[in-house]
Amino acid sequence: MIWDELDWSILERLRQGFLSGTAADGPYWRTAEDLAHYDFTFAERIGWKWDHVLRELEQRGWAPPEGPLLDWGCGSGVAHRRVAARWPHAVTALQVMDHSLLAEEFALERWRQTPSAIPATSWDRAHPPVTVVISHVLNELAADDAEDLMATISAATAVIWIEPGTPAMGSALVAWRERLRAEFSMIYPCPHQAVCGMTAPGNERHWCHHFAAPPPEVGADPHWVKFGQRAGIDLRSLPYSALVLDRRKPSLPAAAGAGRLGRIIGRPRVAKPYTRFIGCDADGVSEMELPKRVAPSLAKKLDRATAPRSFRWSKDDQTLSQIEVL
Ligand SMILES: C[S@@+](CC[C@H](N)C(=O)[O-])C[C@H]1O[C@@H](n2cnc3c(N)ncnc32)[C@H](O)[C@@H]1O
Repeated sequence: MIWDELDWSILERLRQGFLSGTAADGPYWRTAEDLAHYDFTFAERIGWKWDHVLRELEQRGWAPPEGPLLDWGCGSGVAHRRVAARWPHAVTALQVMDHSLLAEEFALERWRQTPSAIPATSWDRAHPPVTVVISHVLNELAADDAEDLMATISAATAVIWIEPGTPAMGSALVAWRERLRAEFSMIYPCPHQAVCGMTAPGNERHWCHHFAAPPPEVGADPHWVKFGQRAGIDLRSLPYSALVLDRRKPSLPAAAGAGRLGRIIGRPRVAKPYTRFIGCDADGVSEMELPKRVAPSLAKKLDRATAPRSFRWSKDDQTLSQIEVL
């Protein structure tokens, strides 16, 4: 696919379905062309979110367990391609699952075009996956589909899950986290294993979301710029919600040490004397502030999507007195 071949009537119909909610009414891929268009544009943008999350997981010393990888609701397959590219040795086989056979066929064909030798098939339910990847599926699921997904997750060792960073999806992932908390370690984005602070009274207006950054060249690429304008998407802003779970209960290097492990949620507001943000640590989720004098160069760049989000910090009340980037 090349930019000059884009058929906007396909992209507009797909986007309309995603925005209006009709995508939840049943399979909507009509032809392989639909999937090729999606893969080249919307899915590529989703891939930037995957790159962002996987990069941080890798930096923090986490990798999926070795074994088959299932892409549940695979669409054109961007999620499994990103995971297999980052950890090729962990993925021994690829399994794709979508209620659209057209999507499964497209994802398998697209996989065959990659240089990887990892075998790929449609998922045979007799073979439970070791790792499940889930991407941008949740708001298309009916209640019984969600239970099917829960059963699949409950049979897996690890889960990597990314959804749009909307209030509805952020809150839904928190609810899934709470249901799965007894079985799995929370690897990402949570800095702790306790009840999610978002569920505490008073936090109803917050939701667990984060921002990824697109590759730097995208802003200067006239094709992407035109695509963003025509599709009505701000390509600089990539809000996502995520959940990474691991049944192995790994001890990550960052877990040892004094102070609290903490994560910034959403986008911080940088002001002269303070940077304010919604912070999450084992004490809960609350508005916190980082006085500029505590970490001058960090405080002033925290509103950038490329800024670190995972820390060890100490605080007096909700004011940070010390902060270390993990
Ligand atoms: C928005 S697309 C996302 C595709 C891909 N995961 C990605 O991130 O690009 C949602 C996909 O979920 C699939 N889907 C929706 N409901 C499903 C269900 N109940 N079981 C399996 N797949 C489903 C759709 O057919 C579609 O391919």
